[in-house]
This record gives sequence, structure tokens and C-alpha cells, in this order.
Amino acid sequence: MKLLVLNGPNLNMLGIREPDIYGKSTYADLIAMIKAHCDDKGVEVIFKQSNHEGDLVDFIQQALFDKCDGILINPGAYTHTSVALLDALKAVQIPSVEVHISDVDSREEFRQISYVSLIAAKTIKGHGFEGYIEAVDYLIGA
Ligand code: DQA
Repeated sequence: MKLLVLNGPNLNMLGIREPDIYGKSTYADLIAMIKAHCDDKGVEVIFKQSNHEGDLVDFIQQALFDKCDGILINPGAYTHTSVALLDALKAVQIPSVEVHISDVDSREEFRQISYVSLIAAKTIKGHGFEGYIEAVDYLIGA
């Protein structure tokens, strides 16, 4: 079992950006937490982050060639704008879970639309970093 954990723009700024919304823990803390959980479950995991939409498309396509069994994606702001990410997920047909640290439903109107949710098997919102763990468990069928 191999998973891709893909984080989009500004998620490398966790711990610095809007800590009242996203918390004080860093991106490195997030990765360490997911890695520990995956090690525990005997799951191989690849981590990627980019602030660039095209890079994220490339990483999704690469997941097919890397024979990933699942994609856990927090597309950041591209959630609300990117048809390209939706199309990439449709192209590879790898089961995906969409994760948002914050509860996007209770935030600005422009955060209410998600293109990725049209293909994601599940969307987890507002559970903080724990949402990533829930997504791993969902993808591995735990
Ligand atoms: C986010 C929510 C998005 O609206 C925002 O643009 C992000 C992070 C979240 O994890 O809550 O960058 O995806």
C-alpha cells in the first residue's frame, strides 16, 4: 500500500500563516505526524507540496507511474479554482480523499465551491491535522 500526500499553496507556511485558523504546528510537524501513523500501519507514503498548480498536476500524474494506491490532497486555495486538478485526478483514477484543516463551510463564500470534491471519495473539513490521519485510515480501509 502506497499513498501520496499532496499539499497545495501556502501549506508550507503552516505554523506561520493565520495560526488562529490553521494552528501553530508547522508543515514539518504535519509530515512527521502522518509519517508516524503510516509507519505504524505499514503504509508507504510519499509527501509533496507545491505553491504551483502545474506542479500539483504533475505530482498527481506521477502517482500513477509510482503505482500509488491512494491520494490524500489538500489543494489549498486551488480547491476553489482548479479544474486542472480535478481533471488530473479524473485522469489517473486513483482513489482520493480531500482534506481541509479548517472548516471551509463556515468561512467565506468563495471557499464553498470545491472542484476536487467532484471526484474525491471523501472530503474531511475542519478536523485540523487529525483530518489527514482520518484520510489515511479511510484510504487504507482501516
Ligand atoms: C485550506 C482551506 C482553503 O480555503 C485555503 O485556501 C487553504 C487551506 C484548509 O486546509 O483549510 O489554503 O485548504
